Amino acid sequence: MNAWIRRSHRWFAVAFTVTVLVTVVALAQEDPVVWISYLPLLPLALLFFSGLYLFALPYRARRRAAR
Ligand code: HEM
Repeated sequence: MNAWIRRSHRWFAVAFTVTVLVTVVALAQEDPVVWISYLPLLPLALLFFSGLYLFALPYRARRRAAR
């Protein structure tokens, strides 16, 4: 489960980076396609929640070891 979340976080990071690059290109057009700039929000939200999980892991492991 932990390895799966870590691998997902890594791939969400790739997706996020790609959508940011697409957004930069879309907004640089003479007639900018503004809705595309909302695309990075989805992978960013996934990064946020999987990142919070990864962040909590060492603290959870420490509490379990103490018990
Ligand atoms: C949005 C909020 C985010 C949070 C809360 C977060 C949190 C974390 C945490 C806690 C880790 C594990 C660090 C460790 O090994 O102890 C991690 C790893 C990582 N994060 Fe994030 N992160 C976020 C966003 C991002 C973004 C925007 C990117 C890049 C576009 C990114 C890329 C990565 C990568 C590549 C790793 C290493 C994964 C691996 O191969 O193990 N993260 N992140």
